Amino acid sequence: MKKNLGPVNALYPTPIVLVGTVVDGKINYINIAHIGIIDMNTMSISMGKIHHSNKGIKENKTLSINLPSDDMVVEADYVGLVSGAMVDKSQVFESFFGELKNAPMIKNAPVSMECEVIDILNMPNHDVFLVKAKNTYCNEEVLTDGRIDLAKVKPMFFDMHQRKYWKLGEAFAKCWSIGRSYTK
Ligand SMILES: Cc1cc2nc3c(=O)[nH]c(=O)nc-3n(C[C@H](O)[C@H](O)[C@H](O)COP(=O)(O)O)c2cc1C
Repeated sequence: MKKNLGPVNALYPTPIVLVGTVVDGKINYINIAHIGIIDMNTMSISMGKIHHSNKGIKENKTLSINLPSDDMVVEADYVGLVSGAMVDKSQVFESFFGELKNAPMIKNAPVSMECEVIDILNMPNHDVFLVKAKNTYCNEEVLTDGRIDLAKVKPMFFDMHQRKYWKLGEAFAKCWSIGRSYTK
């Protein structure tokens, strides 16, 4: 027997990202789970309007998206617990910059994208930033044959239902391939 839970969003888990901004001249990082993929280099980031980060993004039209590895969980959770309006989060991570101004990236994160904001969806309680990646920087150790290897990145995932972080499991099948073994 199925139980109807009402309009529960059952899409979790989503990858955790750390969005880097400059707000009033100061570097700030925020933990974000509500992200989406629109096409190969266009993404959406849904951020509550109350957050300090939004101000910097609206002013600068740039931000960074950093994928922390699972051993960065304490710092990642911390920047999702406290606001840059109250606490200086600029030193939680060592930062570096690429081509774009005001898109600080995290040195220790295995993968970082510097992004330009191309549009903002004005929802009642959220700004949904539509962004395009300009450059993606990777630690060489997380590449296999020049491509990002998630087994080496060790990203972490957010589970809203149980309020937990999950680690990545094992790859178990090849996409656009395993389906060929289908028989009715
Ligand atoms: C695991 C986790 C996921 C989060 N995901 C989101 C999210 O997708 N969107 C959002 O607006 N806030 C999200 N938050 C909340 C913000 O990270 C948090 O309120 C942060 O302190 C705001 O920082 P700021 O005021 O410096 O911008 C999340 C927090 C945690 C711990």
